[in-house]
Amino acid sequence: MQITTRKTGHSGTGHMKTLKHVSLEERCNRILRDMEGSLTARDRVGIQDFVLLDAYTSESAVLDNLRKRFNENLIYTYIGTLLVSVNPYKELGIYTKKQMDIYMGVNFFELPPHIYALADNVYRTMLTETNNHFILISGESGAGKTEASKKILQFYAVSCPSTKLLDNVRDRLLLSNPVLEAFGNAKTLKNDNSSRFGKYMDIQFDHMGGAVGGHILSYLLEKSRVVHQNHGERSFHIFYQLVEGGEEDLLRWLGLERNCQRYSYLVQVGEGECAKVSSVNDKSDWKTVRKALSVIEFSESNIESLFAIIASVLHLGNVTFVADSQGYATLNNSPEIHWLSKLLGIPAQVIQVGLTHRKIEARSEEVLSPFTVDQAVYAKDALAKAIYGRTFTWLVNELNESLANKDSSRKTVIGLLDIYGFEVFSVNSFEQFCINYCNEKLQQLFIQLTLKSEQEEYEMEGIEWESVPYFNNKIICDLVEEKFKGIISVLDEECLRPGEATDMTFLEKLEEKMGGHPHFVTHKLADQKTRKTLERGDFRLLHYAGEVTYSVVGFLDKNNDLLYRNIKEVMRQSKNAIVKHCFPSTEPDSKKRPETVATQFKSSLVGLTEILMSKEPWYVRCMKPNEGKQPGLFDDVLVRHQVKYLGLMEHLRVRRAGFAYRRRYEIFLQRYKPLCPDTWPNWKGTAAEGVECLVKHLGYKPDEYKMGRTKIFIRHPRTLFATEDAFEVCKHELATRIQAKYKGYRVKGDYMRQRQAATKIETCWRGMKARREREKRAWAVKVIKRFIKGFMTRNQPACVDNTEYLAFVRQNYLTRLKENLPKTVVDKNTWLTPPPIMQEASQMLRKLYTRHMVRRYVQGIMTERKAQLQIKGLTSSIFKGTKENYPHSVGIPFVDTRISEEDIHIKVYQMIRQERIKYSVPVVKYDRNGFRPRFRQLIYTGSAAYLVEEAKIKQRVEFNNLKGVSVSTLSDNFLILHVQCEDIKQKGDLVLQCDYLFEALTKLCLVANKHNFIKVVQGSVKFDIQPGREGFVDFKSGQETMIYRAKNGHLMVESTRTKSRAMIQN
Ligand SMILES: Nc1ncnc2c1ncn2[C@@H]1O[C@H](COP(=O)(O)OP(=O)(O)OP(=O)(O)O)[C@@H](O)[C@H]1O
Ligand SMILES: [Mg+2]
Repeated sequence: MQITTRKTGHSGTGHMKTLKHVSLEERCNRILRDMEGSLTARDRVGIQDFVLLDAYTSESAVLDNLRKRFNENLIYTYIGTLLVSVNPYKELGIYTKKQMDIYMGVNFFELPPHIYALADNVYRTMLTETNNHFILISGESGAGKTEASKKILQFYAVSCPSTKLLDNVRDRLLLSNPVLEAFGNAKTLKNDNSSRFGKYMDIQFDHMGGAVGGHILSYLLEKSRVVHQNHGERSFHIFYQLVEGGEEDLLRWLGLERNCQRYSYLVQVGEGECAKVSSVNDKSDWKTVRKALSVIEFSESNIESLFAIIASVLHLGNVTFVADSQGYATLNNSPEIHWLSKLLGIPAQVIQVGLTHRKIEARSEEVLSPFTVDQAVYAKDALAKAIYGRTFTWLVNELNESLANKDSSRKTVIGLLDIYGFEVFSVNSFEQFCINYCNEKLQQLFIQLTLKSEQEEYEMEGIEWESVPYFNNKIICDLVEEKFKGIISVLDEECLRPGEATDMTFLEKLEEKMGGHPHFVTHKLADQKTRKTLERGDFRLLHYAGEVTYSVVGFLDKNNDLLYRNIKEVMRQSKNAIVKHCFPSTEPDSKKRPETVATQFKSSLVGLTEILMSKEPWYVRCMKPNEGKQPGLFDDVLVRHQVKYLGLMEHLRVRRAGFAYRRRYEIFLQRYKPLCPDTWPNWKGTAAEGVECLVKHLGYKPDEYKMGRTKIFIRHPRTLFATEDAFEVCKHELATRIQAKYKGYRVKGDYMRQRQAATKIETCWRGMKARREREKRAWAVKVIKRFIKGFMTRNQPACVDNTEYLAFVRQNYLTRLKENLPKTVVDKNTWLTPPPIMQEASQMLRKLYTRHMVRRYVQGIMTERKAQLQIKGLTSSIFKGTKENYPHSVGIPFVDTRISEEDIHIKVYQMIRQERIKYSVPVVKYDRNGFRPRFRQLIYTGSAAYLVEEAKIKQRVEFNNLKGVSVSTLSDNFLILHVQCEDIKQKGDLVLQCDYLFEALTKLCLVANKHNFIKVVQGSVKFDIQPGREGFVDFKSGQETMIYRAKNGHLMVESTRTKSRAMIQN
C-alpha cells in the first residue's frame, strides 16, 4: 500500500547541510524526547499518528483525537505517511524559516506532524529513488488545499540548493502563484480565496536536488463567474485588484473608474453592490501581481495587453442593448464601445455589428441576422467568458514558458495537485457538477492507488490479509462518465441533437436512462419523502462525499459554450496581441462542432489520471473545522462528515491491518545489505534469501515482518526506523571504510612508486659504488703487484720495477723515523734501523740530527748552567773512564762551596781573607803516621789550599808547591795531594777522604789552574810522609768499604764495586 509506505531516503544537498549540524546523539535524544513527550501529552494533545489509536475503527475516537489536537492548535495528524490537516483559520506561526530548518533532512516520524515533514520526505525519497512523485491535496472548498500547496512550494524554495540560476527559477515558481490566484481565484461563500480552476504543478529537480523548472496544467476555469456570481460571491480577484489598486494613469488609459460598483459584471444582480471581503486586500495584492509579472518577465506590451483585456471585459459588461422598433437589439451606449474599440484594437463599428448580429448560412450565402436583446446579452456574456477564459489559458502558457527548463538532462519531478474541492451550494450548477465529478475521479484514483491496490498486492504476494470493506466510488464515476450511458454522454447528446433541446429535455433523458441507479435521483424518480427536497428541474447525485442536488438550468448552454462565428471573426481582427493569439485564424471552423465542455473536461481528467498513475503518490487530506471560517471552532458534524468522505477510516483500517512498509527484495537488499556481514558487499543467492538472512541478522521478530513473493512486508514503522537508523550509522562507517580503502589504495600506489624509485636509486647507487670499489680494487691489485715486484727487486739497481717501491720504502722510513726520533742528546740507542738502501742516508741523518739536537740543547742552556757544564766537562775529561765511581757523580751538580763563610772559624777567615776564599769542603785527613782519621776543613784560596782544624791552619799548600794529586781507579773517595817538600820541617803529602771528591778536585784544578796534575792510579799510591820517608795507600775493591792499616804498614782502602765499574771493565 503506497500510502502506508514509509519512504526513506538520503538527504538532498540542501538537507545534508542541516543534517551535518545535528549529531546522531542529539537526534536520538530528540526522538526520545519527542516520543516521551508525545506519550505523556497524549491525553491533552492527542496522538500524532492515528495508526497508534487503540480504537482505530471508531469514527468518534478519530474525531476526538482531531478535536483534541485542533484545540491545542495542532492542525496536523498522520495516518502513516498520509497527512491530515485541519484549517485553523488563523496564523499559527508554524511556517517560519526556523520551522523549515527543523524539518529539513529529519526522519519523517521524528518530529511532530507537519506539512514540511511530508514535503521533506517526498523530496528525499525522490532524490534517493530517483523517481517521480506527486502530492495530492484534497478536501472541500476552503479546507486549505491551496495554502498547503503554497507551504510546500515555499519549503522547497528554502530547502533546495541555491545558486543564482536556481534562485531565478525559484522566484518564478513562487511568483507564479499570486498571478494565477489573481486570475483564477475568487471569493465564494465557502472560501474568500477559492481556486476556480484545477491546478497541477510539476516542480522539476536535477540530480543534485536543485529546483530547475516547473510546469503547470490548469483544469476547467469557472468562466461563468466572469458574468455572474452568486449572492455574496465575487468575480476573479484581478478585476478588483485592477480597479482598486491600478495606478491613476493606467486606469485613465484603460478608461476605468476607481469604483467597482460601476461595473455590472462585478455587481450582484438585483443587489447593486459588490461583495465585501475583509480578508482580501486588493490594493496590496495588485502590487504583488504587478511585481510578479515583471519577475516572471512578461513584456511590458504583454502586460498592457493583459490589462486591456481585463478592462475590456469590464467595459463589455457595461454594454447594454435596447430593442428597436422591430424588437432587434441596438447599442445605446457608445462610450463603452469606444473603449472596447480602443483597448481591443477593433473598429467600433465592427464590434457593434458583431455584438448585435449573428452570421447564418442561407444556402451558399452568409447573411447577418440581427439579435433580439436577450440574444445580444447572451452573445455578449459568451464573448466576455471566452475572452477571459482564453486569456487565462494564454497566461498559463506564458508562465510555463517562463518556468520551462530547456536543459534536456534527466529530471525528477514532484507534482502538486491543488484542485477545487468538493462543493455543495444551495443551488448547484454545471460547474459544481464538473468539480464534484473531478473529486469523484480523484477519490477513485486514491482508491486505486491505495485501498484496492493494497489488497490486491497482499493477494498477489501471497500474504495473509484480512479484508477491509471500503466504498468503491467507481459506480458514481461510471454514472457520470460512461460512454453512451453516462450523464456526460446524455448531456452531449442533447447538446448536439437537432430539434428543440432544452435543459428540461436533458433532465427527462437522464430520468429515462438513469432511472433505478442507486446514486441518481430526480423529483420524478424519488420516493415521497425525498421528493419534497427536490425541485422539478433538479437531479441529485449521491456522491461518495455526500448528496448534491444540481439544477439543470444552464447545463446545455454551459456545456455548449457557444461563441458565434462572426464574433470570433471580429476578435481575430484585434490589434491586442493576446486577443489575436487567443483567437487564431487557424481555429477550426464552427461548421464542425467543437468538443463540449464536459467532454473536454472528462478527457483532461483522463490525462491527469495518467500523469498521476505514473508517479508515486503522497496525500494531504484537508478539512475545514466549521463553515463560518471561524478560528477555534470545531464543528463535530462537519468534521465527521469529512472524515467519512475523505475515506480516512478505511485508510486507517487498511493501514492497521497491513504492513507499514514493503519493498521489493532487490531494492530492500540493495539498500540495507551493508548491515549484515553475509550480505555485504554482495549476496550470492536470490534477493529473497538475502533479505531473509539480513532480517535474521537484524533480529526482526517473526510477527514484525512477512516475506511475500517479491517483497518484504514490515509491520511497524519502528522496525524500519531502527533499520534505517542503523543504516544511517553504518553508512558513515562504510563511507569511512571506503574512503580509507581508497586512501590506502592511493597511498599504496604512491608507496609502490616511491619504493620502485628508491630501489632504482639504490640500484644505481650500489652499482656506482660497486664500480668504484672494483676500480679501487683493480688499482689496489696493481699497487700491490707493483709493491711486491718492487719488494722482490728492492736490492737490484734502480729500475722501473723498483723505483716506486724504493721511493715508498724511503718515504715510509723517513715518515716512521720522524715519528721515532731520539728525544735527548744522550739517547744514543733510539734510532730506527734503516733499510739497506737508506744505510748511508740514515747515518748522515743521524749525525745531522744529533748535531741539530746538540745545537738546540746548547742554544737552550743558561750561562750558569753552561759554566757548571764546562766544569763538569773538565771533570769528565779527567775522570771519565778512569775512576769507577765517576759516573755516579755526573748527575750531582757542583756547588760554589760546601762550607759557608760563617762555618769557617773567624780567626782562620781573618788570616786568609786577603787571598779570597774560592771553595771549601769538609774532609777526613788521615795521619801520615798511623793513619788516624781527623775531620778537617779543606779551603782553597786564590793561591793555596789550607787544611784547617777549627781555628788552626794545620797545613798550607801553595799551589806552586802542589806537585800533583793521586786518586784510585776504584770507587773510594781518597785523594792524595803530593806536596813539594824541600824542607824537612815541612809537612808531607796529604791523605784525605772527601765525599765531594770530583767537585773538590775539579775546583782545585780550576783554582790552581793546573789541569793535568791529577793522576788516576791503579793499585797503590806512594806518598811522602816527610821528605825522604814514604808511605803507601793501597786500594782494592771488596765486599764492603773498609779503611784500615794493613800489616804491611800501608793504608788499606777497600771499596765496594759499582755496576758502572763492571760496565767500564766491559
Ligand atoms: N494552514 C493554514 N493556516 C492558516 N490559515 C489557513 C491555513 N490553511 C487555510 N487557511 C485559511 O483558509 C483559507 C482557505 O484556504 P484555501 O484557499 O487553501 O482553501 P482551498 O482548499 O484551496 O479551497 P478551494 O477549494 O476553494 O480553493 C485561506 O485563505 C486561509 O485564510
Ligand atoms: Mg484552493
